[in-house]
Amino acid sequence: MTGIALDAPHHILDLTLADEGKRRTEWAERSMPVLRQIRARFAAERPLAGRRLSCCLHVTTETANLMITLRAAGAEVALCASNPLSTQDDVAAHLVRDHGVHVYAIKGEDHETYYTHLAQALAFGPDLTQDDGADLVGALMMTALGRLEDLSGPIRAMVEAMSAEERTAMVSRVKGSTEETTTGVIRLKAMAKEGILRFPILAVNDSRTKHMFDNRYGTGQSTLDGIIRATNMLIAGSTTVVAGYGWCGRGLAMRARGAGATVIVTEVDAVAALEAKMDGFEVMTMAEAATRGDLFCTLTGNMHVIRPEHFAVMKDGAIICNSGHFNIELDLEGLAAMSSARSDVRDFVEEFVVNGRRILVLAEGRLINLAAAEGHPASVMDMSFANQALAAEYLVRHAGTLENAVHRLPPEVDTEIATLKMAAMGAAFDVLTPEQTKYLASWDSGT
Ligand SMILES: NC(=O)c1ccc[n+]([C@@H]2O[C@H](COP(=O)([O-])OP(=O)(O)OC[C@H]3O[C@@H](n4cnc5c(N)ncnc54)[C@H](O)[C@@H]3O)[C@@H](O)[C@H]2O)c1
Repeated sequence: MTGIALDAPHHILDLTLADEGKRRTEWAERSMPVLRQIRARFAAERPLAGRRLSCCLHVTTETANLMITLRAAGAEVALCASNPLSTQDDVAAHLVRDHGVHVYAIKGEDHETYYTHLAQALAFGPDLTQDDGADLVGALMMTALGRLEDLSGPIRAMVEAMSAEERTAMVSRVKGSTEETTTGVIRLKAMAKEGILRFPILAVNDSRTKHMFDNRYGTGQSTLDGIIRATNMLIAGSTTVVAGYGWCGRGLAMRARGAGATVIVTEVDAVAALEAKMDGFEVMTMAEAATRGDLFCTLTGNMHVIRPEHFAVMKDGAIICNSGHFNIELDLEGLAAMSSARSDVRDFVEEFVVNGRRILVLAEGRLINLAAAEGHPASVMDMSFANQALAAEYLVRHAGTLENAVHRLPPEVDTEIATLKMAAMGAAFDVLTPEQTKYLASWDSGT
């Protein structure tokens, strides 16, 4: 164990950073008009009064605005990081000092501390959790199943020290959870399929106002931003290999092309591969792309997408990074094993020497947009976190009526969020006339 008390009110780097965190959180707030409106309603209605929420999210300025919204709704909130490198320490300080949020997160925390922080968020005794990658729910389900050997060290130590009654109470107290990202939703659906979920999940990622914007435009822009901040490389004229042409991959491919790169896409899904081809990208196997790329980025949610057989044929100076949820998209252990030397050559850039050629790995293969840049712009997180806030409210309002399965928010929520966003952007759209509504519901008129 790390010696950090599980019931400590917070565990952050430095409280004196709070002023800067406040300034930056307020800057993000300016671009979050939808969340601001929800916050104002929550402050009046207090839909989460008396609830305890444990959130495992990237500790960024946008997340701070979500936390402040949950507090306005009346909740007690604990927050730990969903990635060891994505925490903004000034934001953590601001949330602790000015909003009474129990933050357990420090940028660059080691493996042990990362899981101690998750344990602290669980020890907080939540009624609801918010996950980005299903780590909290995963730990709760392992506990419920008695699979303590599968829990990460500090969480395992905490659970082992609890009585059977305390473990049951910790799990049964949780009435629902929300999930932010594709990888988390995949894991939660696997739990639902095995019939082990003990409470309902709202898959925020599956809202159209989330994945179509956050995953595509957010990831597209912020991934390029992270790569540029880490390397200062010129994208124009480079050959950029994008692995995965889902929502995130589409976004990055689009933005890299816009910046002047020749973009190669790799895929395993025939339809997605065809879509990339018809969107005008080169599509080929990773085995072939490995010999061509100057820059590689994985965004698949899968494991070992780039592995030793690929590293072995890359050009000298090839840059490798990942913007999918986990760093296992890159087989970094395989790379280390085949390297004759490795060294840090710049912040966020580690050089491996393979057969005399240099391969540069960014940010330990962790989410490059959050590790080396600030994550998604606030304007797009406005919609994602509007979904998160409304999902927490939905779970409370529908407590006891939802099956222990993975649910989506109703489509009206997408319509509400998109309408508010359009209004905030000063853009209008048409509404159906009564005649059109009737026509679209009929089969026998107007043909
Ligand atoms: N960087 C961020 O801030 C951010 C934001 C949102 C989501 N994510 C994460 O990014 C990942 C992708 O999310 P998404 O919403 O685009 O998912 P998605 O399901 O829309 O797309 C993933 C694509 O990767 C493809 N793929 C799977 N294995 C592959 C392989 N071996 N080689 C090439 N392609 C492969 C799939 O066929 C699919 O088309 C997930 O891990 C998600 O959690 C990251």
